[in-house]
Amino acid sequence: MRRKVIAGNWKMNNDLKETQNLISKLTSGLSMDNLNCDVIVCPAFTSLSEAHTLLKDTKIKLGAQNMYFETSGAFTGEISDSMLKSVGCEYVIIGHSERRTIFGETDELINNKIKKANLSALKPIFCVGELLEEREAGITEKVIEKQIRSGLMDISSEEMSNIIIAYEPVWAIGTGKTASPEQADEVHKFIRSLIYDKYGASISENVIIQYGGSVNNKNAKELLSKKDIDGALVGGASLKSDAFIEIILAA
Ligand code: 13P
Repeated sequence: MRRKVIAGNWKMNNDLKETQNLISKLTSGLSMDNLNCDVIVCPAFTSLSEAHTLLKDTKIKLGAQNMYFETSGAFTGEISDSMLKSVGCEYVIIGHSERRTIFGETDELINNKIKKANLSALKPIFCVGELLEEREAGITEKVIEKQIRSGLMDISSEEMSNIIIAYEPVWAIGTGKTASPEQADEVHKFIRSLIYDKYGASISENVIIQYGGSVNNKNAKELLSKKDIDGALVGGASLKSDAFIEIILAA
């Protein structure tokens, strides 16, 4: 039985004060002793250190939204794995579609980032997903297969057991248009079969595959009831404490 993982990707929202407020509403609204799923929040870089302090005695884990694969040096504007570890991050989102489409991240870059995150024991939340035109052209599986195979190139079985995969169809992100639970489950099954081919039964049965794309407090329960949907990567709805708490409780 896979334990569900609910993550909030706060994207480029919330300054320090707003982050403090949101965390305080989440921690006071959730009963930590009865949490039946893992919860991760991914605030902006500028709030990570403070978020770590505020989350210290809670069960909510901390993640970052991106990192670079070099250790240090002349990479203006970038953040390294060790910097994220030093402010208490346990997770890092890698390959989000906004990084791919707006900032031109390639499968090769994403693969390098996943490798580097693994080296410092940060758990990658590795995002894949097809564009609307790719779904309409009937090539969803082809696109997902390429992203998975390239992103996980040279990743060992041991490393794979630390990786969460997030299936986020790009057409469902921030659009209010969710993949139906059946559509999502179908792709999740396909992703699990790719993991089975490469890593075998045990790893594929245990890998967490989250769904992301317009998840909210109304649709979470049905999506999360699907056999191969092991959690959610939530954008917009994770910025509202009430909605995010409802999603967590649905899991
Ligand atoms: P929305 O939940 O706002 O659609 O965003 C999904 C997402 O991109 C999470 O990473």
